[in-house]
Amino acid sequence: MVIQFLLLLAFFAVAERFLHKIRNLPPTPFPTLPVVGHLYLLKKPLHRSLSRLSRRHGPVSLLHFGSRRVLVVSSPDAAEECLTKNDVVFANRPRLLAGKHLGCNYTSLAWSSYGDHWRNLRRIASVEILSTNRLLTLSSIRAGEVKSLIRQLAKSGGQSVDMKSAFFELMLNVMMRMIAGKRYYGVNVGEVEEARKFREMVTESFRVGGATNIGEFLPFLRWMGLTGVEEKLMELQKKRDEFMQSLIDESWSGEGDESLEAAAEGGKRKTLIQVLLSLRATEPEYYNDETIKSLMLVLLSAGTDTSAATMEWVMSAMLNHPEILKKVQAEIDEVVGHDRLFGESDLPKLPYLHCVMNETMRMYPVGPLLVPHESAEECRVGGYRVPRGTMLLINLFSIQNDPKYWPDAAKFKPERFEGMEGVRDGYKMMPFGSGRRGCPGENLALRMVGLTLGSLIQCFEWDRISDEPIDMTGGTGLTMPKAQPLLAKCRPRSFTWDLLSEA
Ligand code: HEM
Repeated sequence: MVIQFLLLLAFFAVAERFLHKIRNLPPTPFPTLPVVGHLYLLKKPLHRSLSRLSRRHGPVSLLHFGSRRVLVVSSPDAAEECLTKNDVVFANRPRLLAGKHLGCNYTSLAWSSYGDHWRNLRRIASVEILSTNRLLTLSSIRAGEVKSLIRQLAKSGGQSVDMKSAFFELMLNVMMRMIAGKRYYGVNVGEVEEARKFREMVTESFRVGGATNIGEFLPFLRWMGLTGVEEKLMELQKKRDEFMQSLIDESWSGEGDESLEAAAEGGKRKTLIQVLLSLRATEPEYYNDETIKSLMLVLLSAGTDTSAATMEWVMSAMLNHPEILKKVQAEIDEVVGHDRLFGESDLPKLPYLHCVMNETMRMYPVGPLLVPHESAEECRVGGYRVPRGTMLLINLFSIQNDPKYWPDAAKFKPERFEGMEGVRDGYKMMPFGSGRRGCPGENLALRMVGLTLGSLIQCFEWDRISDEPIDMTGGTGLTMPKAQPLLAKCRPRSFTWDLLSEA
């Protein structure tokens, strides 16, 4: 009986391989097992497993995650083909569990497939929320929060500080103040109970949303209710929805800490919820409560962890290369000086700081596989046929760390970016993705990462907590976090307290 079963399995695998070849599908690892497909080859973190497979099977390969076909791309040429010639074809998102429950049944900006609904959300996000003009009107919020962080660090007395939490809380405060005018971390937190609920919800989102869910690709486990993730996601989404609804209701009544502050400034600054509610008067069908809630939730989940993790990677890389940290500090001292705090408007004058940020995003991209795309129709990539409904993973981590495209790829060398404008280098460097589904928050992210790191380097002398280098291993999760949270020590510089005492 066992022998018959094994023979059947072998026959199935060989027949599958033969069919694969005559259909001109991309190379695939052998064997593709029934039910699990190639899941038996994958380990965490996924981008590293996929890099190993690409080295063996080439830069365009086809895998099966259970029953789902997955195209894995790991060369700049193949990535370019997917994101230019085939950009519209690959502009859909696959229907994964996170998109069903946290992406409001695949209707949120990040999870909805290409079409009128997505185009409309994307327009609102780009024009009304993340445009350069809107970001400028909210710049005092970002500056204020960074100043609070400097104050908090200055009081640390040279003790070890958990920078992972510090960056994460900074980003959440910035995003929530921009969205609803509230801060939920640190001192001057308005409503304690509401802040507690919010923090609980955020922690849970990253715990549940980031869990690798094998039931995703093995539907029989889901039907049998063996993974339990789906129930947790549903419960979480209910809480997130209620929370955002309460913020919208409050905005109608003009409550909220920030409204009072904005009123004091002559009412110039509106929270993002207020901006969208005011647009409802002219286009009520676009600006309903559901759309506003889903947009705000996307900003919160796509914007906080990614930016905070990038700050942590950059700071860690600099602490492992004190000579580079010194060079960045010298550049800031020369451009900004010691008589005023670092500001966002200084960023364009600091090319070396940008080189350091770029080099970190090259080696440690927080979206190592971008966000999965899916093909809406059959297309060709690398000369192979890619069927409709195939999930696309672009292995950015592999491309950005490949010695074929980057001499001394494993070395941290910011100088390699000297003379380059922005963060893009064709399709061999694109930490924010590219094409229609590329990140709409790039401008905000670069401002926040640059402002925060520039200010911290201006105001403090930094040190590791021991002689051991900082562990740069990547962990697993929704984004690529550092496996070990960054702990560091800092001492205020002689002029820092004077700068903090300024209004
Ligand atoms: C350093 C920080 C950040 C990095 C590295 C980053 C990177 C990315 C990447 C790689 C994608 C997927 C692109 C693709 O699917 O091809 C993405 C999508 C997205 N990002 Fe970011 N991001 C960052 C910060 C932000 C911020 C601050 C926001 C907004 C507040 C944001 C909002 C979004 C949204 C809404 C999407 C989905 C877009 C769509 O599907 O149409 N991101 N980001």
